[in-house]
Formats: sequence, C-alpha cells, structure tokens
Amino acid sequence: MSFSPPSDKAMVPFVSVENMMHLIHHVGIEKFLCELTDVIEDDFRRWESFDKTPRIASHSRQGVIELMPTSDGAVYSFKYVNGHPRNTIEGLQTVTAFGLLAEVSTGYPVLISEMTMLTALRTAATSAMAARNLAPSGARTMAIIGNGAQAEFQALAMKAVCGIETIKLYDIDPRATEKTRRNLAGSGLEVIGCCSPQAAIERAEIITTCTADKQFATILTDNMIGAGIHINAIGGDCPGKTELHRDILLRSDTFVEFAPQTRIEGEIQQMPADFPVTELWRVVSGEAAGRCNPQQITLFDSVGFAIEDFSALRFVRARLAGTDLCQNLDIIADPDDPRDLFGMLQRCRQ
Ligand SMILES: NC(=O)c1ccc[n+]([C@@H]2O[C@H](COP(=O)([O-])OP(=O)(O)OC[C@H]3O[C@@H](n4cnc5c(N)ncnc54)[C@H](O)[C@@H]3O)[C@@H](O)[C@H]2O)c1
Repeated sequence: MSFSPPSDKAMVPFVSVENMMHLIHHVGIEKFLCELTDVIEDDFRRWESFDKTPRIASHSRQGVIELMPTSDGAVYSFKYVNGHPRNTIEGLQTVTAFGLLAEVSTGYPVLISEMTMLTALRTAATSAMAARNLAPSGARTMAIIGNGAQAEFQALAMKAVCGIETIKLYDIDPRATEKTRRNLAGSGLEVIGCCSPQAAIERAEIITTCTADKQFATILTDNMIGAGIHINAIGGDCPGKTELHRDILLRSDTFVEFAPQTRIEGEIQQMPADFPVTELWRVVSGEAAGRCNPQQITLFDSVGFAIEDFSALRFVRARLAGTDLCQNLDIIADPDDPRDLFGMLQRCRQ
C-alpha cells in the first residue's frame, strides 16, 4: 500500500530565520517596530483578558532556559528562550528563541516561528512603548550601555517610535561599540561612541542598559542619574542578574510588566517584596499615571513578558498574509480515522 502524503491538517506554517529576515525587510524595520509597538500596546490595554504566570525557568551555572506561555482564551502562545551571558565567548548568542501560536478551541498549532530576531524586535518595541509613556517629552538623546545583539534594535525603535535623534554608546568591549556604530551608519541617527558610561549618559534623557553578565552588576550608580531621566533597564532579567545600584530604585518611580515575575527576575529583586511598582498596562490603559513632572526619574524594569511574544507572533502571522515567507511543516500526525494513530504507523511500514 502506498503511503499518502500529509494532509492539510498535518501542516503548520513555519517561519525560518531566513524568512523572518525577509519579512522584516519586506515590511521595513522601522515600520515593523512602529506597528509592533502599537500591537503590543493594544494587548497591554486588554491585559486582564490574558492568562498570566511568571515564566518557568530552568537555571544553571551558565545561564537559564525559560518557557513563556500565555493565552487570551482564543489563541495560546509560548516561547522557548535561553539567556547565557558567556555564550558569546564560544561564538554562540546570549539569547536565542523560537515559539508557537495555537488555536485554543482545538489545541492545534497555527504558527511556529523563529524568535531570536523577533525577541530583539519585541523587546525594542516594548522599550519604545514604555518610553513613549514615561520618558520626558521632547527627549532626543539616548545612551545605550551594552552594545551587543539587542543594541541596534533598541536604537531604531526609540528613533521610530519616540523621535530619538542621537545615540551615545558604551560597552566594556570597544569592538561591540564599533559594531553597533557601523550597523547604525545610514540610519539617520547621530551615533557617538564613548569611552566610559559617564560620557555616554551625559546629556542623555533616556538611558538603556542592555548588558549581559550573570551577577549583581552595577552598570549605573545613583550619582550618575540626574533628575528627569528615563531608564530603560533590560539586562537585569534573572535571579542574581541586575544592572542598577539599588539606591537608584529608591529615587525612581518603577514600572514593570507583570509584577510577580519582575519581583523574581528584575532590578526590584534587590528590594523588599512590597516595594511599590506600577504595572505598565495600567499606564497605557489610563488607569495609572506615567510621568507626572519633568524632575521625576522613571524606570522601566524590563524583564520580557509572555504577552509581548504573543503580540509579536500574532503580528507576524497577520503580516505573512499575501507573502510566501513561510514553509509548511508536517508536524501534526493526521490519521484518516483520528482514533487509528497506530494504524497510520503500521501503514507507513508496508
Ligand atoms: N528584558 C527583556 O525583555 C530582554 C530581552 C532580550 C534580552 N535581554 C537581556 O538583555 C541583555 C543583552 O542581551 P544581548 O542579546 O544584547 O546580549 P549580548 O551578549 O549580545 O550583549 C551584551 C553586551 O554587554 C556588554 N557588557 C557586559 N558587561 C558590561 C558592562 N559592565 N558595561 C558595559 N557593557 C557590558 C558585553 O560586552 C556585550 O557587548 C542580556 O542580559 C539579556 O538577557 C532582556
């Protein structure tokens, strides 16, 4: 008996890294970042309709592997993501990811996607969403401390969404700063490489920290932070891995994604369990105040939350329509009789 090819029900669209890169260029990276920022903000506005849980983390001496699930009752998503700060020494990335969207009504997957590129985009879009709600109005200069894989995405999102014109860079490794400067040439941003974090933050209205080091690091100390600054702290995202001196938190108003997760993973792990924070969804939905005065120091203690990945996957799925930028993967066994899975296996041997 001949074995019939997989049916439509067996197939799930898959976005490879190559196709994701084509999709980003097809849309245009700044447009992609602007649209994704709006999609994430829309989902933050309907925050209460989502299942929420701190992500499930498997820690090791070298790093962490995490699963990030959520659902809005109609669509389910999860992301697999790692964080291994020493990987770059071996020629591997610190962060890699892939993820899946599924239909809640049947449990069948509807999209599988690379998410290493997509995580960089969604992290940058989330930072931009936070900044447009919290940063001082008219901010034009941002410092980026830590010039690795995330840096250019952060810069372009702040340009496209918030109108940032000048980026000041600092990294302990000058080659990382040079790489970022090279990649941002021609972007329309003025890009200035700096020799110290102090030089980088001078005249910056927004400071983004995106360093990778599995320790309680002190990338910024209290004396470096003047009134009115917005800090976008994305690198402290794991127990025992922070970037800011705790005194900065005492002078800041702190905004988070999902407080139960951020209390485990974010800068606020250094603070008591009742340290006051505001979840960002309350600000975007108008329930809580964001920036109230020009002197206020605002801190987005970013760790990355599952709803941002849900938004990003749904955005990609919508943007794939009318393109050929995905392949079908034969990933769901589809026996002719749904209860005859074993028969399907037997027929394959004949
Ligand atoms: N919040 C989120 O949603 C989110 C999402 C993705 C990544 N991250 C985190 O962001 C961080 C950056 O990620 P990446 O993919 O760009 O990592 P990466 O390894 O590519 O880059 C990190 C850079 O930080 C630099 N660095 C390390 N210590 C430094 C210090 N003391 N001062 C200045 N620079 C320093 C390194 O030289 C490197 O260039 C990681 O910690 C990662 O876990 C957070």
